[in-house]
Amino acid sequence: MNESTSRQIVLAARPQGRPKLTDFRLEETAIQTLRAGQILLRVQYLSLDPYMRGRMDDRESYQPPTPLGAVMPGESVATVVASHHPGYSIGDIVLAHTGWRTHAVSDRADLRKLDPAVAPVTTGLGVLGMPGFTAYGGLRVIGKPQPGETVVVAAASGPVGSLVGQLARLAGARAVAIAGGPEKCAYVKDALGFDAAIDHKGADLAARLEAACPDGIDVYFENVGGAVWQAVLPLLNKFARVPVSGLVAQYNAPSPGDGIDQLPSTMRAILSKSLTVRGFINYDFAADHYAAFLREVGAGIAGGRIRYREDFVDGLEKAPEAFIGMLEGRNFGKLIVRVDGGSKS
Ligand SMILES: NC(=O)c1ccc[n+]([C@@H]2O[C@H](COP(=O)([O-])OP(=O)(O)OC[C@H]3O[C@@H](n4cnc5c(N)ncnc54)[C@H](OP(=O)(O)O)[C@@H]3O)[C@@H](O)[C@H]2O)c1
Repeated sequence: MNESTSRQIVLAARPQGRPKLTDFRLEETAIQTLRAGQILLRVQYLSLDPYMRGRMDDRESYQPPTPLGAVMPGESVATVVASHHPGYSIGDIVLAHTGWRTHAVSDRADLRKLDPAVAPVTTGLGVLGMPGFTAYGGLRVIGKPQPGETVVVAAASGPVGSLVGQLARLAGARAVAIAGGPEKCAYVKDALGFDAAIDHKGADLAARLEAACPDGIDVYFENVGGAVWQAVLPLLNKFARVPVSGLVAQYNAPSPGDGIDQLPSTMRAILSKSLTVRGFINYDFAADHYAAFLREVGAGIAGGRIRYREDFVDGLEKAPEAFIGMLEGRNFGKLIVRVDGGSKS
């Protein structure tokens, strides 16, 4: 591989609704000379995550928007290929915020070394990384499932939802999945051990969810919003907890809302059922819970109690198409771009 140039994908235009391939642009740039203390990373695996859709809009959020022409943000597993720092050697594998590119120069502030002997390095992008910690933190700190309770989560075959369901089961609760299509529903039941699975693409979601939750819902881990929230709301039990993790059904909406304003009925349910509804970004919990997450989920994977699924795409140039597909549910498991080795460069 040529280590003097880097390929990168930048934000070419702000999407109106669903992103198009022309909203992204592939560029080639020269890699800058390393200064003292810097290291050069070659990206092996790039993570694609729903939050990236929000960064494409020029809208206030918990992180600033990506400027037009800037590299798309993202975390990756990368190999150190040159080092001007004594703490990093050529060949070290790290988790880094490189963005969508083949190479990045790092000042090391945000790196976490990965040991392939502990777990496959790609787990650092999914079950043992940011999405996994979202499931762990949201459930432990807000959801607090108790034995015998019912926990519902959508996007259930993805890296967040799949761990929510498995941790709920390990806590003695009943786990009900909502997923898109029969294949994903069969996977979450047969491979992950969810007690029931509902296909949100079928007719009459509300009635099928009610039948799958005969004792109501005690924890609803909100990943999607939209029609799923409308089906969940009447089934929430008194004192139910709702960790609000994401609203992926709404990310491509050109204007806020789904056509029906659910806010009045939502507020009435929060009041009359004494619900706890709390939004969170996974790193809110990092100081108190990240070490326990790595220990407990790492041991669960090693012992076979926790499973995960990865969905690989080959080549950086395929990232835009794969990202657009993820927002519509075409990924099946944690979506990862194989950058180094996946394409000719
Ligand atoms: N708060 C935080 O710190 C934090 C951190 C990470 C992720 N999140 C959020 O967690 C959620 C899941 O993330 P992930 O990384 O695990 O994603 P993911 O499951 O790998 O991918 C997104 C999934 O969303 C589902 N989906 C898309 N549109 C939908 C719709 N209209 N109705 C129902 N489901 C729909 C699709 O699955 P189906 O085919 O099954 O429908 C799709 O595969 C996202 O909302 C994300 O923003 C939050």
